[in-house]
Amino acid sequence: MNEVSIRKQEPSQYKNTINWLNNEKIQRSFGLTREVNLVEHINWLGKHPNIEFLSILHNDYHVGNIVLDFNERHDSVFLQIYIGDTSCRGKGIGANAMNIALDYIFVEKQKHRVHLKVFEDNFPAIKLYEKLGFIKEGIERDSHKMDGVFRNQLLYSMLSKEWKGIH
Ligand SMILES: CC(C)(COP(=O)(O)OP(=O)(O)OC[C@H]1O[C@@H](n2cnc3c(N)ncnc32)[C@H](O)[C@@H]1OP(=O)(O)O)[C@@H](O)C(=O)NCCC(=O)NCCS
Repeated sequence: MNEVSIRKQEPSQYKNTINWLNNEKIQRSFGLTREVNLVEHINWLGKHPNIEFLSILHNDYHVGNIVLDFNERHDSVFLQIYIGDTSCRGKGIGANAMNIALDYIFVEKQKHRVHLKVFEDNFPAIKLYEKLGFIKEGIERDSHKMDGVFRNQLLYSMLSKEWKGIH
């Protein structure tokens, strides 16, 4: 069995999320600079009702998350993804999960645009987004300062008419 699905995150899965969010490499890929704890995470979810926090399941095992921040006024969604379980990377799970998420956003929710940011040295993520058909919109130069170093972020987006799926 090699089944990927995405589901609304259950409270029992928050612990995995906290561990991943405090992982140094994941922190670096999102530009996070401080530890997150369970109470803060739950408060943060409560303050952001527009956000759908989704678990990526591989054979029913929680391996990562997709976070969708819906902007109802503009029919757009800001997307973030991470495969927290590092042993599950590079096996097509991220691509499958993105495929399901984009179907959900464009077909089920009828949204117009999905956008995201990625650090320019994050080659696996850039490859994934370009393979799915995201269009590079530009570069935010020196937009993020981490450990005294400025980093560039690339902006990518996809419009509903551009979504073909990778079935
Ligand atoms: C980015 C990420 C979500 C990709 O998920 P994944 O399940 O590992 O990716 P997949 O196995 O579905 O691979 C998707 C594509 O990326 C490529 N890829 C995967 N890992 C790669 C690596 N280490 N180096 C280069 N390319 C890589 C694959 O080759 C594949 O393209 P292909 O089918 O043409 O070969 C995952 O690596 C991750 O969680 N990284 C840490 C968090 C992060 O950076 N999130 C994104 C922040 S913007």
